[in-house]
Amino acid sequence: MKKPVLFIALAFITLWSCKPESTAPAASTTSETMTDYASEGQVITKAVFARLSKELMAAINADGPSGAIDYCQINALPITDSVATAFGVTVQRVTDRARNPLNKADSDDINIMSQYRAAIAASEELKGKVLNQDNQHIYYAPIRINGLCLQCHGSQDTDISSETLTTIQSKYPEDQATGYVAGDLRGLWKVSFRD
Ligand code: HEC
Repeated sequence: MKKPVLFIALAFITLWSCKPESTAPAASTTSETMTDYASEGQVITKAVFARLSKELMAAINADGPSGAIDYCQINALPITDSVATAFGVTVQRVTDRARNPLNKADSDDINIMSQYRAAIAASEELKGKVLNQDNQHIYYAPIRINGLCLQCHGSQDTDISSETLTTIQSKYPEDQATGYVAGDLRGLWKVSFRD
């Protein structure tokens, strides 16, 4: 599973400052292997997130939030493809209140979201988790709302401009992803390893 060169290259392009993350226990895998998946999952999600944030900020500065909407599809970003190919993974963002119906959480994802919401309520630190389902490893990390997100995911009355709202509603007629406040759990990074 290890691909040291790419691993290091990716570590360089991420602002990697966090401590190692803990893993959920799993019967049939050693904790060392689970830690490998957690570290690799963390590098992958940070790389994609760093690129997404950079492109999103640049697009908002150039065209405003309404014009930046097309940059929010991680599936359309070249980095997602290159990471997926290099590591043999699928990178997704999933949520229980989807804007794009393709990002809808399944029952396992919803269960993980509940665990993170409970941890937020208890003011605990949120860490990445690794699940081992039928020998497929899945890395999860929380996605939370901050000030930048509100112009497209905050209150329809006070945070999102009417122009942006109109664009969102025309592209995503089933949108459920507004009404968040800073600190809310918005969704999950989900990295599925094909091993
Ligand atoms: C310029 C508007 C805009 C901003 C700013 C924005 N988003 Fe989004 N967000 C979108 C759009 C549009 C989608 C749908 C993307 C797609 O089609 O996959 C989306 C999708 C998502 C998804 C995938 C789940 C879903 O509902 O489809 C997550 C998670 C998410 N955004 C989190 C965030 C977070 C966290 C921030 C702040 C760091 C943020 N977004 C900032 C517009 C925005």
